[in-house]
Amino acid sequence: MTFKQNIIDALTIAYPKTLTFENLARALMVDQAHVVQAVNELQQKNFPISAQGNVIHLAYPLLSVPAISKLLDTDFIGKPVQLHARLDSTNTYAKANLSDLKNGDVILAHEQTAGKGRLGRNWTSPAGASISMSLVLKPASPFERLSLLTQLTAAALIKALNDWGDVKIKWPNDIILNSRKIAGILIETEFSGSSLEGIIIGIGINTNVDQENIPQELQSKATSLKEGTNREIDPNTLVASFLTFFEKYYVDFLNSQRPAPFLSVCREQSILIGKNYWIIDTDRKRKAYIKTIDSTGGLVVTYLDTNKTEVITSTDLSIRGDDHYV
Ligand code: BTN
Repeated sequence: MTFKQNIIDALTIAYPKTLTFENLARALMVDQAHVVQAVNELQQKNFPISAQGNVIHLAYPLLSVPAISKLLDTDFIGKPVQLHARLDSTNTYAKANLSDLKNGDVILAHEQTAGKGRLGRNWTSPAGASISMSLVLKPASPFERLSLLTQLTAAALIKALNDWGDVKIKWPNDIILNSRKIAGILIETEFSGSSLEGIIIGIGINTNVDQENIPQELQSKATSLKEGTNREIDPNTLVASFLTFFEKYYVDFLNSQRPAPFLSVCREQSILIGKNYWIIDTDRKRKAYIKTIDSTGGLVVTYLDTNKTEVITSTDLSIRGDDHYV
């Protein structure tokens, strides 16, 4: 991918301006036929590159490490960012290569062929139209509550996405725009015996996916940022902004052990709090009034059948409205 990625980098940096095949060939020090062939191959993979005569441009910026690095305001998160053309899953890749990865390293892919969602579900990540990202953490001591890390991640995502609209969180890890899911979080941990080798925070965002390319069975539940805002999205701004917010919340939390700054974002932007929902476990379904998110990151609910208030910490469950997703 390196050569094709060089073309993507050049077009992304030039965006919204056009480049000529000639300019590109000269900048990359190859002959023009090489560039034409690589652009053709990228177009066949659905990367949004238009070519008219000798002039080419992108419909919207594509993932590019130089573009992200320019915008990143962090000390260690995203230093470095690795970008792959195609992986089975960025989480699986991070797990398999964990011993070579450092605290804060980020793995990105233009496309995933076996993306993983929560509860053993699949996650679709179309080439050039979505963000698949895994962030590796190697904390000095194990994180006492992973539920807090999910909420920290969700808050950083909400802050980064706020520029594009009124984005909500559906506890524990769904990010919602216009009542449909646009992003999800999957956190995995890797132990060697009893010692924590690393935490992998997987984030999938539907940035520029067209509604017709969303799997049929998800049409009523899922959308993309582009569909929700009618704007094409620059994934590099979004990734850099997320990583910058993430580091601020994370460092602040490690120093203070106070989750309030990010939990208040999750409470304010919660789509569930103050309403009734079905809590669906493997073996039962109960309706509950959703009260708040407590200081451990758990969901505080009052079950309508018993009127008892409980804190849900397990994320192995689904939350649904009467006949709708949110
Ligand atoms: C969910 O909402 O079910 C979680 C989706 C998480 C998807 C991301 S995409 C990047 C990372 N790699 C994966 O295989 N999954 C996560």
